[in-house]
Formats: sequence, C-alpha cells, structure tokens
Amino acid sequence: MNYENKIINGDCIDVMKDFPPDIVDLAFTDPPYNLEKDYGLYVDSNDKENYIHWTEQWLMEIIRVLKPTGSLYLLTLPKWAIHHSVFLDKFLYRRNTIAWDALSTPRGKIMPAHYSLLFYTKSHSYTFNQIETKHNWTHCARAKCTQERNTSSLEKRPFSDIWSNVHRIKHRGKRHAHHPTQLPFSFMERIILSSSNRNDLVLDPFLGVGTTAIVSKLLRRKYLGIEINPEYVQESRKNVEQASTFRSRLELIDQPQPRDLSTFL
Ligand SMILES: C[S@@+](CC[C@H](N)C(=O)[O-])C[C@H]1O[C@@H](n2cnc3c(N)ncnc32)[C@H](O)[C@@H]1O
Repeated sequence: MNYENKIINGDCIDVMKDFPPDIVDLAFTDPPYNLEKDYGLYVDSNDKENYIHWTEQWLMEIIRVLKPTGSLYLLTLPKWAIHHSVFLDKFLYRRNTIAWDALSTPRGKIMPAHYSLLFYTKSHSYTFNQIETKHNWTHCARAKCTQERNTSSLEKRPFSDIWSNVHRIKHRGKRHAHHPTQLPFSFMERIILSSSNRNDLVLDPFLGVGTTAIVSKLLRRKYLGIEINPEYVQESRKNVEQASTFRSRLELIDQPQPRDLSTFL
C-alpha cells in the first residue's frame, strides 16, 4: 500500500498496526487530553490508569513506524507530559520540552497557561532546520501587532523552548472547520519546517480536521493522517483539497528568510 498523502478513517492503534516499520520522517500528535471534550465518536473521559495505558499503546506504534532518523512531537497537558516523558525516555532521545503559552480556561487555583510539546528523536541523526523569527518574544496576536513585528527591525532569533506568539484559535470565525480543538496553522508550520524536509512523510494519528495535513501539503511534505470520526475525515479531505486557500494563515514561508529556507520550501 502507498502511505503517502492519505487520510484514513479508523482507530489509530489498529490502523498503525498495519503500517510497515520505519516509514515516517515526522510524527505529530495532538490526542484527546481526557478533558471531556465532545469529539462525537470518541469518549474523552477515562480513568487515569486507562488513559495512560491507552496513550502508551499508540505511542509504541508511532515509535515503530518512525524512521531511524525520525522525530516525534507530542502536544499534551503538563500533567500527562510527565507520564509520557517517563515512558518515551525508554525508547527515544528527548530533545526539548517546549512550553506553549496558550492561555486556557480557568481550572483549579492557578490558571493553566501552557501546554507541553515534547520533542523526541529516534536517534542522534535527525533533521533540524533552524528557523528564525522576529516574533518569538511578544504576546499580542492582533493583525496589527503581527504586521508590526514582521515589518519591524527586531532582531530575528532562533526559537526558544517557550512559544508565546502562536495563539490558540478561540473564535469560531477563525476555525477552518467545525471542531472543538483545531490547532493554528502557524503552530504546525514551525514544527514541520523545523523537523522535516521537502517530500518527507508527516504522520498525524489524531488528525481532527486536517491541520497537519493541510500545512504539510502547503510546505510540500507528504501527509498521512488517521482520524476516528468519519465526519472529521470528510472535513479533512475537503480542507486538504482546498489547502491553497489557507496559505495566507502561514507566517514563515512568505517572509524574507534569514537563512536559505528556500532550499527546503
Ligand atoms: C485534539 S483533536 C486533534 C485536532 C487536530 N490537531 C486539528 O487541528 O484538527 C483529537 C482528535 O483525535 C480523534 N481521535 C480520538 N480517538 C482516536 C483514535 N483512537 N484514533 C484516531 N483518532 C482519534 C478525535 O476524534 C479528535 O478529532
């Protein structure tokens, strides 16, 4: 079977079991976080042990299908990241734990303000394209502020492990489909540009409404997505077909590039 540019409907554990080993260059996962979100088919509410056991099953499959030069990014809540790190440290090399500053709904006594983005590689030989941005250090996400940053003479710098200028999509009008937790395009753009090259295969086993696949296509990577909800699968396929209409939501590719980014765009 050809695994390139496919969006598959099914349970990602079952689907990945049918994949041969060592085929994926970059895996990104944004799984349900056990927060009782409404994803239609999947019930996002489990006891802690079952949830962790479930995550380890799909993580094992991802590890198996990653190429020896492959990378994994796992986006999750800090409380799950601790468990995932202990597990992944047995099989992969930990590169960074990125804090994504993405203000959330108040819960508990201290306001949760970040997600954890775990970055692992399968070996010491892996792709990393150093991306530099001007806008890593300020918080304002309004179009005016973004434009000011992009046209200002601020010094460009490589990413740090705190990402505070990529903002969660909070308003329905900014969503590219009807889905409660879709990610911003610019968030995926950073990951895909940094950790893959043109024509590489990018896997997302919890594809939602296709953000990873759309950005992969725009950046000329190949995508392989899995999603359990057939409605989201349909949405994703439609969105990928129309990927060019989302190009303006990327932040890095149309800017003058500090390094020779054009060689891998
Ligand atoms: C947090 S959302 C991903 C959103 C995605 N990053 C986007 O931007 O659209 C998690 C997705 O995983 C899907 N899902 C849950 N369990 C799954 C499973 N076992 N296999 C595949 N997909 C699953 C849900 O339907 C949901 O769309």
